[in-house]
Amino acid sequence: MEKIIDENKQGESLVLEPKKENTRKLFIESYGCAMNFSDSEIVASIMAKEGFNTTQNLEDADLVLVNTCSIRDKAEQTVRKRLEKYNAVKRINPKMKVGVLGCMAERLKHKFLEEEKIVDLVVGPDAYKDLPNLITEVEDGRNAVNVTLSKDETYGDISPVRLNTNGVTALVSITRGCDNMCTFCVVPFTRGRERSRDPQSILEEINDLWDKGFKEITLLGQNVDSYLWYGGGLKKDFEKASELQKATCTSFSNLLEMCAKAQPKMRIRFSTSNPQDLTLDVIKTMAKFDNICNHIHLPVQSGSNRVLREMNRLHTREEYMALIDNIRKIIPNCAISQDMMVGFPTETEEDFQDTVSLMNYVKYNFGYMFTYSERPGTLAERKMTDDIPEETKKQRLADIVELQLKHSDIRTKEHLNTVVEVLIEKESKKSNKQWSGRTPQNIVAVFPKEHYKIGDFVKVKVNTCTSATLIGEAIGLAP
Ligand code: SAH
Ligand code: F3S
Repeated sequence: MEKIIDENKQGESLVLEPKKENTRKLFIESYGCAMNFSDSEIVASIMAKEGFNTTQNLEDADLVLVNTCSIRDKAEQTVRKRLEKYNAVKRINPKMKVGVLGCMAERLKHKFLEEEKIVDLVVGPDAYKDLPNLITEVEDGRNAVNVTLSKDETYGDISPVRLNTNGVTALVSITRGCDNMCTFCVVPFTRGRERSRDPQSILEEINDLWDKGFKEITLLGQNVDSYLWYGGGLKKDFEKASELQKATCTSFSNLLEMCAKAQPKMRIRFSTSNPQDLTLDVIKTMAKFDNICNHIHLPVQSGSNRVLREMNRLHTREEYMALIDNIRKIIPNCAISQDMMVGFPTETEEDFQDTVSLMNYVKYNFGYMFTYSERPGTLAERKMTDDIPEETKKQRLADIVELQLKHSDIRTKEHLNTVVEVLIEKESKKSNKQWSGRTPQNIVAVFPKEHYKIGDFVKVKVNTCTSATLIGEAIGLAP
């Protein structure tokens, strides 16, 4: 249930291998999307060079950094509550400094310092390389702010330190920012314009991960299919590139192919796809390589053409359905998941029923569903009234969550009595005698440990299931 309602993880803290020469302690935690978790690994790497080891104890920290999310009002409230907790700790440890990173830092800028007295440091998503200077200012007793957005920062030259929870799966960031300007969304304002990372640096990172024993990577971007490398710079400036740059550019399907070939045994995932940017080439490349996982996270937000238009989603319901048909034709066993939003301004009961019927058409494997939350500065906030009553929003959300559960149930049951390939990630939460891993379709599977170990690819015969988990037994290592 939890997984279906909210994809955003809450406040996990990162801990790295301590370096002996480092004397100061950093407590870093992340809220929000996978990109924030990946960014925190970059930040931890920058801070390690500045003499900071990470700690899991807030009470021990010389410096606390919180990587924040602005996507919905609730996400911001969660961070504000967390700041209250830091405040309490600071009373015991007055030397502790507090910095805010990420989308809330970018959105609120200097205002953060006025609104939350506990905050010493405000750093936007493109300014992490300036952290060493900013920390020096803070240590000298001044507050510090850097929220400059960049045209070309991708942190491609920083080797992120990994959160070694399982040593099997890792996030690899490939684009930053978003140019799509969906009218409800704060991301283009907090993360700036879209730019892509040098494919060579991506390949180097993947090769390095494989050498360290990682078995699965997720290529990350706010709008991952829009990836385009033509030598650096903003995507919107591609028009101005030279003929040679245009002729030798790398698209997302090119990049996928390069990654799949570079490490043919590494599982490759990617997230998130905006339907308007997911091309047939990408789907065909997925079909061509066994190691690209058959799962597409394809948020649609609404099934109503009128609402899609108001949201500035640049495709129709019919085009989305045609895309789904193509995916199913080219990759018959491809899992498809959604993000859906209810209660967008002016959404009528009829619009909502269009969402329900689209869900019934696709029968997604799983999804993340939200009620509309008005975000300051977005086009929807400026041009529209948040006019759907809270009770209506909640009722519509409950309706689609229930529907999604039914669909997940149907989809998961399709695997009963089949053999699936599972990459073992960790011990099952429910039993220390069982392993837990995921299939290429991103479905969790649990089975008795026997002699298998974390990082093994195992063939699992599925005997039973819940709506989200396959339960079975291993019948051997996958070839
Ligand atoms: N491209 C992004 C998607 C944006 S945020 C990614 O990589 O994940 C994730 C989801 O949050 C969106 O798909 C949308 O369903 C939801 N969301 C975004 N803005 C929102 C808002 N103002 N209110 C409610 N939900 C929102
Ligand atoms: Fe937001 Fe739309 Fe981009 S949801 S992240 S503006 S694709």
